[in-house]
Amino acid sequence: MTTTPLWRDTEHTYPTADFPADQRFDVAVVGAGFTGLTTALFLAAEGRSVVVLESRDLGAGASGATTAKASVLQGVRVSTIRKRHGLDTARSYATANRYGLDWWADFCATHGVATQRPRAVTYARGVRGVGAIWAELRTLEELGYPARWCETLDVPFPARAAVELPDQLQLDPMAALVALAGAVAEAGGRLVEATRVTGLRVRGTGEATRVEVRTHAGTLTAADVVLCTASPALDRGITAATMEAERSYLCAFDFDGDLAEGMYASVESPVRSLRTATVDGRQVLLVGGNGHRTGTAAPIASKLDSLREFAAEYFPGARPTHGWSAQDFHPVTLLPRAGRLPWGRGHVHFAGGYSKWGLTGAPAAARIVADGLLGRSSKLSFGRPTVSGTARSAVPMFADLPAQLTAAAVEAAVRRPRPRLLPTGRATGPDGRPCEVSLVCPHMGAALAWNPVEESWDCPWHGSRFSPCGELLEGPATSDLTRRDGDSRRSGR
Ligand SMILES: Cc1cc2nc3c(=O)[nH]c(=O)nc-3n(C[C@H](O)[C@H](O)[C@H](O)COP(=O)(O)OP(=O)(O)OC[C@H]3O[C@@H](n4cnc5c(N)ncnc54)[C@H](O)[C@@H]3O)c2cc1C
Ligand code: FES
Repeated sequence: MTTTPLWRDTEHTYPTADFPADQRFDVAVVGAGFTGLTTALFLAAEGRSVVVLESRDLGAGASGATTAKASVLQGVRVSTIRKRHGLDTARSYATANRYGLDWWADFCATHGVATQRPRAVTYARGVRGVGAIWAELRTLEELGYPARWCETLDVPFPARAAVELPDQLQLDPMAALVALAGAVAEAGGRLVEATRVTGLRVRGTGEATRVEVRTHAGTLTAADVVLCTASPALDRGITAATMEAERSYLCAFDFDGDLAEGMYASVESPVRSLRTATVDGRQVLLVGGNGHRTGTAAPIASKLDSLREFAAEYFPGARPTHGWSAQDFHPVTLLPRAGRLPWGRGHVHFAGGYSKWGLTGAPAAARIVADGLLGRSSKLSFGRPTVSGTARSAVPMFADLPAQLTAAAVEAAVRRPRPRLLPTGRATGPDGRPCEVSLVCPHMGAALAWNPVEESWDCPWHGSRFSPCGELLEGPATSDLTRRDGDSRRSGR
């Protein structure tokens, strides 16, 4: 069984460009996942000069590792948002995600990407779960969605009752990203890979304001920068501090059996998320779940094993082929973020924080940010967090909220449990040689924890991850760990 995500296990070709050192762009988009590429496409299609800078390669973040279910029925998310922030915000959130679903349906139909339109199903294993899915049904009905109650579900795993929403969408995320990269290039945008953005500096005033974008490959300038980096890369303030990185796990199985048409998610923990896909003419079963905060000392080894055990019990004969993990970011307000950051003098924007529902969230966030940059008022929003709902989590999420909150509340939100403090850590590098690294995260100073399954140093605060010898793998940090054994090679990524 390989740890490469199923979708990334084949070669993909798409247009890329060299780093355009010292050139000027209207917009520099950072990150080549769903958010970055939809943002770039919306802006390039309106004649803006756009460059996309990606530290790794297309889909290397959550987008290439996702389950890729596009749905307005997202577990019990809409009713949970309603409970926290009210019906109007729940309506805005659902409308934005419906826009994302429709956008994918249209884009895929016009760009030759196969999609299927199964129902989405949220199911309950126990009585408490039944109450939660009932609330989701009522909220979706009130908002005008054709959700239905299922007293019984014809599936082999335990499910007491369910709510379903017909005609949602699933796709192969890498096929979608490759088509997006092609569409961005056709509209005049450039995708530059293996280029990590390490710093931004806003220079000039008024019309002449430019953002200097620094990378290991050189510098360029842009009138605006959009960080589509899942967590707000380069941010060391409240925006990064109020999102939690959650790692979760997916297994793919060769599967000859039957699963009634649908994309399934349990309401109770541990979540079990299921769908089927056809890959190279064979049927594949995907089973996901077991999310936990990145960098916590969860017994990670058991996470993939328990997904395999679940499949062995309820889908006998399913043969595991791929087992991987990835992370997405959860704002404590529950609402994705799309707009200007509190710093950057209005020229640095961020879109992300989808709590594992970014397939529909990304085009909506991209539309909101692009509309702002094009000088239009957007019809979309993810809804406004209410002050009481925000105070419950003691966290401001939007730039205009902190004024309403006390410094003590912010302090409480930023505080995180620390793992046992270890100043340095030893591990074995890919060449078999031992290396010793500082275990203080270069982002904001948290103590890192060893992840024995993925062999990485993981940060429990905002999800930065580093290789055994300290090379930055992902997350909001922008530099490697300090080597304590005298070897200070930089990754350059
Ligand atoms: C296991 C799992 C299952 C999921 N299943 C679903 C699902 O079924 N349906 C759904 O809607 N959503 C799902 N999601 C969530 C969804 O995949 C994400 O919300 C979405 O992919 C986020 O897209 P993005 O473009 O914002 O971020 P990403 O895809 O993470 O892209 C961010 C990119 O930014 C790059 N980057 C970061 N920092 C820098 C820097 N400094 N310089 C340059 N580049 C940088 C990264 O390398 C990365 O490629 C799932 C997530 C996970 C983890
Ligand atoms: S990622 Fe923020 S402190 Fe480590």
